[in-house]
Amino acid sequence: MTNEWGPLGALAGEWESDTGGLDTAYSHSQGKVLGTPFMEKCTMKPFGPVDNGDQHLYGLDYKSAMWRGDEENPFHTEVGYWLWDGATGEIMRGFVVPRGITVLAGGIAAADATEFTMKATKDGSPYNIGENQYLAKNASTVAYEVTITVGKDTWSYDELTTLRMNEFDEPFAHTDHNALRRVG
Ligand code: HEM
Repeated sequence: MTNEWGPLGALAGEWESDTGGLDTAYSHSQGKVLGTPFMEKCTMKPFGPVDNGDQHLYGLDYKSAMWRGDEENPFHTEVGYWLWDGATGEIMRGFVVPRGITVLAGGIAAADATEFTMKATKDGSPYNIGENQYLAKNASTVAYEVTITVGKDTWSYDELTTLRMNEFDEPFAHTDHNALRRVG
């Protein structure tokens, strides 16, 4: 793909992992923090440009889903867009988690970067997190940070979602990481 997509060019396509994903979250059904291995499928479709006045964004329209073992329905899904502004090096990931959470995370990267980080905070500007009323009271997402590492026909992520949860006095680190390989 041409370099209009900058560091996102290498991520276009279809991706899968084996069960090497690992989620750390508080399980309400078990009443404790659990480490859960998972497998993942992800598609990223290129589009662009999207013009905001003088700004020209190129992006990937993405959908990802994660499964524990051989369950039929994924236990976590995301839909959204990755975006790249070649003029400024701004890189963004805007997505929805169907718990009722929206995230616009962002950062700065070189056009040929193979590692980059995007961040958002609850009341942050310009990158922030929206959530529903129940979560705002009981399990609020106060910060989100993801580092992406791109290899040859592989990419991986390391993600830290910081939650303010009623179950804990201190902020809780809900973490996820996985490595995906190209399947299309
Ligand atoms: C690979 C990515 C992710 C996976 C596999 C995942 C999985 C999970 C799991 C298993 C739980 C525990 C639910 C329970 O048993 O009670 C959970 C809770 C939660 N997750 Fe995630 N999660 C991921 C990413 C995220 C992200 C990116 C956010 C927000 C930006 C998020 C926000 C939350 C919140 C707010 C809860 C707490 C819900 C509650 O306590 O009522 N998660 N997640």
